[in-house]
Order: sequence, then structure tokens, then C-alpha cells
Amino acid sequence: MENLQLRSFAEYKKAYKKSLKDPEGFWEEIANTFTWQQKWDKTLEWDFEKPEVKWFQGGKLNITENCLDRHLEKLGNKTAIIWEPNDPDEESRYISYRQLFVKVSRFANVLKNNGIGKGDRVCLYMPMIPELAIAMLACARIGAVHSIVFAGFSSSAIARRINDSECKMLITANEVYRGAKKVNLKEICDKALEETPSIETVIVYRRTVEPTAMKDGRDKFWFDELQKAEKDCPAEVMDAEDLLFILYTSGSTGKPKGMVHTTGGYLVGTTYTFQNVFQLEKDDVYWCTADIGWITGHSYIIYGPLASGATTVMFEGIPSYPDYGRFWEICEKLKVTHFYTAPTAIRSLAKQPLKFVEDHDLSSLKVLGSVGEPINEEAWHWYNDNIGKGNCPVVDTWWQTETGGIMISPLAGITPTRPTFATLPLPGVQPVLMDEQGEEIPNTNEPAEGRLAIKFPWPSIARTIYGDHERYKEVYYSTFKNKYFTGDGAYRDASGNYRITGRVDDIVIVSGHNLGTAAIENAIDEHESVVESAVVGYPHEVKGNALYAYVILYNDIEPSEELIKEIKAIVSETVGPIAKPEKIQFVSGLPKTRSGKIMRRILRKIASNDTADLGDTSTLLNPEIVDEIMAEAKH
Ligand code: WT7
Repeated sequence: MENLQLRSFAEYKKAYKKSLKDPEGFWEEIANTFTWQQKWDKTLEWDFEKPEVKWFQGGKLNITENCLDRHLEKLGNKTAIIWEPNDPDEESRYISYRQLFVKVSRFANVLKNNGIGKGDRVCLYMPMIPELAIAMLACARIGAVHSIVFAGFSSSAIARRINDSECKMLITANEVYRGAKKVNLKEICDKALEETPSIETVIVYRRTVEPTAMKDGRDKFWFDELQKAEKDCPAEVMDAEDLLFILYTSGSTGKPKGMVHTTGGYLVGTTYTFQNVFQLEKDDVYWCTADIGWITGHSYIIYGPLASGATTVMFEGIPSYPDYGRFWEICEKLKVTHFYTAPTAIRSLAKQPLKFVEDHDLSSLKVLGSVGEPINEEAWHWYNDNIGKGNCPVVDTWWQTETGGIMISPLAGITPTRPTFATLPLPGVQPVLMDEQGEEIPNTNEPAEGRLAIKFPWPSIARTIYGDHERYKEVYYSTFKNKYFTGDGAYRDASGNYRITGRVDDIVIVSGHNLGTAAIENAIDEHESVVESAVVGYPHEVKGNALYAYVILYNDIEPSEELIKEIKAIVSETVGPIAKPEKIQFVSGLPKTRSGKIMRRILRKIASNDTADLGDTSTLLNPEIVDEIMAEAKH
């Protein structure tokens, strides 16, 4: 295993230049440092019009050989995963690379014994416990495609995702601890399983001793199955372009998009970016606080760090339990050197008395990371001053589920940082700003603002939307000719540093969670008293954005607190608790264009209490509604 780290800004600039001039040669050199069962024949084939992207075609490999087997000789006894439980009084678990290898191999045989093979889809709905990592790697070991569903999603959200990719198996846990609460995951699954005909087997890990209802013939306990499984499991030979996983993300229609990531490019992309952005040294302890149910956890708790032979921390709990000092207590206890979290967490912790930070020795920290949404100036400084004590570079990493890995970010300690800026593209990434006319704004020394697109493929780009290539084309490649459109707006300063300004489409990032407003509207519209609804985001001090729902009721229905509760409950059940609107306003109509489209721009401004300039409302079908909505707005 070779170290892929660039060591200075000069080296970064040289690598960036090379990646522009000869992208294939650039990535070939990096790809060569991995373990391949057979070398590839063709480095890159691409066409953003089709769209189609293929990296390292003909190459054969297994990602788990790169994350596990290749480390055994030199790093076998090194800790791969440190698991920190929800309850600080429960023991932490230290799992070495060798132990992880053994556990993954055996569980891979459990999958096989239960009829899972290459290409089969397996849904994982699990808490943040090592078994989640083991199950995902076991899938990869045998070439099964994992589809991890964040364990905060509702039954119907699970069912929709399982059905979309026809998963054959579901892996879950009986219960999960979340702060002072216990949540029964199996019950949530059982409800989903009423409408998922493709599921043949459910494997249940017992996180607690509570009795669990099991369905005969379908449900099996993790430990019982392990007892029956063989120890060794050779790695399945995968093509570089074979599916590694599906991960669902919100879209601007109600249906979640199953983003497809493939084996070779994803491995190369996540490992290269992990090493360069974070700049780990040999005995460092890296902690990313994300949940593995999101892309951040896939790429930067599991695949990138393990392929790099790093020690990665997995935390089961929440930042406020047993008190708001928990993150810092863990940093002290585990001597965390690299800490990677989301602005929403930073903002909520910054609101607490500083004592929660000061009670802990944070001198082990070297690098701080931020991801998931724009980090505001205040949060950036609080993080830098109080957590980093001014000594830790802050890497603000911009990327997406679709990009698989970090795209724009400082390299820790190397790239000059600027508060609220994700700064410069990583080598191999070619961002462009597009103006209103759809023209590229040249990157000269003039500051500029526009929509962010990427004009050349990188290895970890999602290849398609599972089962819906047309939608993939429509969403990402139809806005600008021959470019991947990110859905984000961005500002670029005179030195070429990027600051991401936020979504320019109907996706709202709430507490770092990517939510499609259409899915929430669909849920609200299911309520029997609701005619129609519109959901928009507005700035929120802690969550970054919060949701504001405008709801039209049937004429004979009186608005009430009860209704507000019911609407929140329906959103919670169909999409998930994180999607509950913060504010609900009952209205008699919604501002619509003559073609019947809701004018969300106006609704966003009203929700944000920014109504000085509403823009042109004369083209509306019903301009009078705007005054009514404004008069009754909830601020
Ligand atoms: C959207 C993607 C990338 C993993 C977590 C989210 C926003 C992400 C930043 C950042 C400003 C950011 C963008 C992006 N975003 N990182 N550093 N600064 N905005 O993945 O759920 O696919 O969401 O998150 O709007 O498009 P995701």
C-alpha cells in the first residue's frame, strides 16, 4: 500500500495541473497503487450526452481486498474500527484489521448460506454498530449490492427503497439506543415488510436483550446464522464497473433516487480524497461523526479510511447524551486527531455553555472537517477557536451523494483556508460556474457567482440512478450541455476559491439532511383534509434551513392545532421525523403561474421574512393571494 498524499501546496498545484493535462495518466498512477486481480484495459470512456462514464474497464478487483486483505501483513494488529457506544459506561470496542477481516469473511458466508450472491441487492437498516460495517463489507466481499437506509427513516420510506431496487434480504437490529431513548427497529421493519414481496430473509442483530418477534422461515438471528457459517470466504472477482452499492438521496420529484456507485472508480476516488484532504499520519485516530446511512459514512467512515489502513471511529450515540460535552469527551478519551462533522452539529454545540468544551483535553486534535451544508462565518470561527484552539486547519469539504467523494476542499495544513470557503478543487476535479444564460463564466481573477457544474468525469461519480437512467440524464446532464450539474450555487473569489451558497433547486438541506420538498408535499397531500401544499426552506439558526409548509384545506375544514399535529405525523411516518415542517400555515390558495406552477420563489421569501422585494408578481394567475399569505405568515 502506497501513500498517496501530496505534501505541499506546490505539489498540489503540480498534481492539479497534471490532472487537467492528462486526466487518464493522472488517475492511472493512483489506481496502480491498489490491489487488482487483473489490470484494466481502458482507463476512461465517457460521454456526458448519453450519459455514460466508465473507469478502469476490464479491471478486476474486490474492494474488501483493498480494505482488509492487503493490510493484514503489516497492519493486521492495527485497530481498524474503534466503536464508541451510546452509553459512556458501556465498553468501547477495538477491532483490528485482522479481526475485521475474520468477521467480514464469516458474515459473507452467512449471506451466501441465505441465498445471496453477486448482484443481489441487500438492504441494511441498522444502528451505528460495528455489525453495520461488517454487513456492508460482507456484501462487497461476495459482490452483493448494499443499499443502506438510514435508521431514522420510516417504514414506508424503507419499503419504497427496498421495492425500488428489489432487495432480496434485509439486515437490521432488534433495537437501537439513541440518547436516553430506545427505538425498536425490528418493529419498524416489520411494518415495511408487509409491502416488500422481494425480501426472502431478514437477519436480525440483537443489540439489546429485549424479546423480539420473529417470523418463522423469514427472520433469523445474526448469531445463530454465524454459528453455521464457514470461516473463509474468498473475495468475489468484480469488474471495475460492477455495482458496489446503491444509496438513495432525495430528488425534486417525490421519488428517491437510487444513486449507483461502482467498484473500481469509487475505491480509487474515496481513498485518494481521504488521504489528501485529511493528511493522516501513521498512528492517527480519525473520527467522522456522520451516520453510515449517508454517503459521508460510506466514503469517509468505511471505504476511504479502511482502504488507507487508518483507524476509524464509529459512534453509536448523539452529541447531547448524556450531556453536550459528549463529542469532546470522546475526542479526549480516544485521543482523536482528526474530527469531521457537520455545521448543524457545530451550531447546536456552540449554543451550549463553553464549559462542555473546556472540561475536556482536546490537545490530540490536529485537523477539523466540515461537511453537508454551507458553514456560516460564526460557526466556522467557533469551531476553529474553541475546538481547534486556532491550531487545527479546518477543511470545509464540498461534495454530494452523487459525487461519491470530496470534490472541493482544502488539503489540511496545505491549502490556505478562508472561513466559509471550500476553497479549491481537488486534483482531477474540474468545476465551472455557469451564468443565467447557461454559459461558462471563465475562471479569471474576477470574483463571480453562478451555478456549479463539473465538466470532466472523476472516478467516483455515480453512474446512474438505479432502474431509471433517463432520470439520471434529466436531473444531472440536461441543464448544461456536456456538463454534470450539481444543483448548487457558488461564489468564486479572485483567487479561484469556491464558496458554496446553497441549493438552487427544490432540495432543502435541513440539519445536513438532504430533503426533497416534493416528497414532503406528497405526504402532506395524503391527509384527508388537505387539497394541496407547498413546502419551502428558510434560514434557521441551528439547522441551517428549516421547512415551512403552506397548506390549503378543503372548504369545510377548520384549521386547528390538531391538524398541524396530524400533518407533522403523516410527514414523520411517510418520509421520516427529520422532514417534519417547523412551521405550517393554512392558506386559501398558492401563488401560481399561468401554466399552473407554484411560484416557490415568493413562498421562500415570505417564509424567510424577506418580503421587501418579492420580484415580479404580475404574471401570477392569482396575485391577490400573496398579500393574504404575507399577512398571516408565521414568523
Ligand atoms: C449537498 C449534497 C456530501 C456529503 C453530505 C451531503 C450540500 C455538502 C457542503 C459544503 C456547502 C455543502 C450541497 C450539496 N453540501 N457539503 N461543504 N458546503 N454545502 O450529501 O446529502 O448528497 O447533499 O449538500 O448543497 O449539493 P448529500
